[in-house]
Amino acid sequence: MTSFSIIEPDSSEELDAYYQLRFEVLRKPWNQPQSSTRDEGEERSIHILMKDENGMAIATGRLQINSDSEGQVRSMAVHENFRGLGLGSKVLRYIENKAKEKNLTKIILDAREPAVHFYEKHGYKVIAESYMLFGVIPHLKMTKNLFGGTI
Ligand SMILES: CC(C)(COP(=O)(O)OP(=O)(O)OC[C@H]1O[C@@H](n2cnc3c(N)ncnc32)[C@H](O)[C@@H]1OP(=O)(O)O)[C@@H](O)C(=O)NCCC(=O)NCCS
Repeated sequence: MTSFSIIEPDSSEELDAYYQLRFEVLRKPWNQPQSSTRDEGEERSIHILMKDENGMAIATGRLQINSDSEGQVRSMAVHENFRGLGLGSKVLRYIENKAKEKNLTKIILDAREPAVHFYEKHGYKVIAESYMLFGVIPHLKMTKNLFGGTI
C-alpha cells in the first residue's frame, strides 16, 4: 500500500462504504444482521473512514460525544488484510485530535478483550469489566485523560 486518506464520510456512497466495513468486521463474523451495525449513538458521533489509494474502505472509527468533557471511541475496525500496519493507530490518533479540538478532556471506550493491548499502547487504562457481546466477546472499560494527569 502506498497511500491512504482519512475522511469524515458525507456522501451516501462514503457512508455506505463506512457502514459496510463496520458490519463486515464487527458484526458479520458473529452472524449478526446488518441492522445491528447502527446503534443509538450514530447521530452524536463524528465518523471516520480510511480509504486506500484505490478508494477502498480499509478502516473505520468514530468519536461519540457523550458530554461537554467526555468522548467515546467506538466502531474501530480495520479490514482484516490491513491489520498490524499502523492504520488503526492512525484512525485512533485522528479521533483523539478531534476530541481535543472539541475541548473534550477524557475518552472512554469498551474494548473487545483482544484489542485491549492495542488501546494500552495508546495510553488507555483498564478501569472495569464491561459487557459480554453476543455471549462470547468480553469487553473491558478503558479510559484516557487527553491532557495528561490522573484519570
Ligand atoms: C484492534 C484494531 C482496530 C487495531 O488496528 P491495527 O491497524 O490492526 O493496529 P495497529 O497496526 O495500529 O497496531 C498498533 C499496536 O497494537 C497492537 N495490536 C493491534 N491489534 C492487536 C490485537 N488484536 N492484539 C494484540 N495487539 C494488537 C499491534 O501489535 C501494534 O503494536 P506494536 O506496534 O507493538 O506491534 C484492528 O486490529 C481490528 O480492527 N481488529 C478487529 C476488530 C476489533 O477488535 N476492533 C476493536 C473493537 S473494541
